Amino acid sequence: MNIKIFETSEQLDNYAAELYVNLIASKPNAVLGMATGSTPIGIYDKIIESYKNKKVSFSGVTTYNLDEYVGLTPDNDQSYAYFMNKHLFSHIDIPQEQTHLPNGIAENMEEECRRYDALIASSPADIQLLGLGHNGHIGFNEPDDNLSFGTHIVKLQEETRDANARFFSSIEEVPTHALTMGVGSIMKAKTILLVVRGSDKARIVKEALTGPITTKVPASLLQTHQQVIVLLDREAGRMLG
Ligand code: F6R
Repeated sequence: MNIKIFETSEQLDNYAAELYVNLIASKPNAVLGMATGSTPIGIYDKIIESYKNKKVSFSGVTTYNLDEYVGLTPDNDQSYAYFMNKHLFSHIDIPQEQTHLPNGIAENMEEECRRYDALIASSPADIQLLGLGHNGHIGFNEPDDNLSFGTHIVKLQEETRDANARFFSSIEEVPTHALTMGVGSIMKAKTILLVVRGSDKARIVKEALTGPITTKVPASLLQTHQQVIVLLDREAGRMLG
């Protein structure tokens, strides 16, 4: 694993954005695995800045998001589809049809999972961006005795609903289920970019990167991937030796 610890969040964002600009310069039809949550927002802001400065074009890029809440329509301002439009897609030149998220309001969830898996299999990600949950989740693959390979429906742990309640007006509004890419699909990405910020995640960062590889800490599986880049701010990296 290639672990980089940055003094400031802005340095981290600049580094990550440059990584994307360079990737797309060398491969204009790059496939990007995207994430939501608070972690990537600063990176998306810097990517938008690079686009506005004409350093990069997304016209040939395809994106696949990790996950989506079950029951939220794309125009619901808490859905991940809405998040991606607000924080990235509406600011860059990526054609809408080249952006993909699981459909949280599909009539048949099983079919939706298979549809999404087939799409991902048709173009594996050049780089998959990941945040990290306090419990070690990646995407919405929560700690468990077993992890799923492909896209599946998941019951969110109360800890995860609590953590995400800050985006909603009350905890009751936080969906109980989500659709998420499985760890198998995540691990197929050529490069994985794990980004973590904040001292509240320092313990899980240490566990995931240096502890035993276990389904109880889904991010620990990343230790078995050949090409992982980990970007941490000083606080998130403070427990690493
Ligand atoms: C988001 C996702 C989640 C988040 C994680 C961290 O698409 O898949 O795994 O990356 O919950 O969330 P934040 O960044 O809000 O701390």
